[in-house]
Amino acid sequence: MPHLKKKVLAVFGTRPEAIKMAPVIKALEKKNNHFDLITCVTAQHRQILDQMLNLFQIKPDIDLDIMEANQTLPSLTAKAVTRLSEVMDNVKPDVTLVQGDTTTAMVAGLASFYGQTPVGHVEAGLRTENRYNPFPEEINRRLLSTLSTFHFAPTQSAVNALLAEGYCQDDIFMTGNTVIDALLMIASREYKPRISLDLQESHYILVTAHRRENFGQPIKNICKAFKEIVQKNKGIEIVYPVHPNPNIAEPVRKILSDQEKIHLIPPLEYEDFVFMMKNAHLILSDSGGVQEEAPSLGKPVLVLRETTERPEAVEAGVAKLVGTEASVIVAEVENLLNNDAEYQKMSHSVNPFGDGQAADRIARILNDRILGKR
Ligand code: UD1
Ligand code: UDP
Repeated sequence: MPHLKKKVLAVFGTRPEAIKMAPVIKALEKKNNHFDLITCVTAQHRQILDQMLNLFQIKPDIDLDIMEANQTLPSLTAKAVTRLSEVMDNVKPDVTLVQGDTTTAMVAGLASFYGQTPVGHVEAGLRTENRYNPFPEEINRRLLSTLSTFHFAPTQSAVNALLAEGYCQDDIFMTGNTVIDALLMIASREYKPRISLDLQESHYILVTAHRRENFGQPIKNICKAFKEIVQKNKGIEIVYPVHPNPNIAEPVRKILSDQEKIHLIPPLEYEDFVFMMKNAHLILSDSGGVQEEAPSLGKPVLVLRETTERPEAVEAGVAKLVGTEASVIVAEVENLLNNDAEYQKMSHSVNPFGDGQAADRIARILNDRILGKR
């Protein structure tokens, strides 16, 4: 009887999943004499996923190409569950790997469960304890914990959250967050700057915003704050790679496109974005990944949200929740611009989210403790 290799199916679909799954894919490829790796993208994001596939040189085995302009949660979910269930039927994996808290991740977990295939959840155990913030991600994560057999938790607080919810200690593995692997992989490469912005001032603030909870009035407030910051503070410009979601891109362009000191640019390739983070004076963002990366680079990050599932950076004193009220955002930014002691306090480099070895740990655990046993 020929020895049949176990099949690992890795599913992802959005920009952050690609960045955080890429190191896992690379680590699993190194073990290709142990398992067959099949990669499947839903392409819930088309353009900003492809940027990452190019950068990490990943050619998906299956590309479902499901993105539609301004897609809704129900339509995306329905399409993804049908298509991913077909993938499960065809591939018949021994384990499915998903990452994070997107619709793609949650639905891949569900489709895998329907096929009675165990799910390994990368970045398990993040919680805000507020079901509508972030929406729908907080509930996606909880559903994924229920759907998953193996929980790859990035930090001790994520492990604790899973234990508190009754998940079995033997199925929880503290690995660190694979985003740090990706960041270190990219930051160590020789980089030739490709972005040419006409920056006139000595400092720039790098910003991103895309969260569903910030659609409507909050994103307008955020834009108002950006306008006020550049108008009131000499020597400061803002660089804003705008997320392609029309619920964000339209109000942002409407409110900010006439501002000389605010550079609205298309989403950056990860290498370029890392370069821009490294050189920024400070960062304002509602992104999950950016909250994890900025501390490693020693950049203060002001989080444009009311809650965070990543308390480690706040506890380390390098991130601060500032919400979405314009006056509060402006005051917090000016505090860091005008008070050097405060700025220095938030500018040290810390790595509460991982040591860059998370993906190797996941590959090892899969090999030695999960697939080896089955
Ligand atoms: C999704 C995730 C969110 C994650 C974010 C990262 C869910 C529910 N939300 O939110 O957790 O933080 O991705 O960016 O899964 N679009 C394009 N081109 C692209 C990508 C998006 O045009 O390459 C536009 C399309 O009109 C698309 C819309 O953005 O319909 C929204 O994309 P979607 O993935 O549904 O939501 P995000 O807000 O990006
Ligand atoms: N990012 C990028 N280019 C950009 C903006 C962000 O490469 O123009 C990276 C960023 O470094 C982080 C990830 O994308 O690793 C975050 O993705 P996003 O904000 O879309 O999602 P979230 O992290 O909030 O789920």
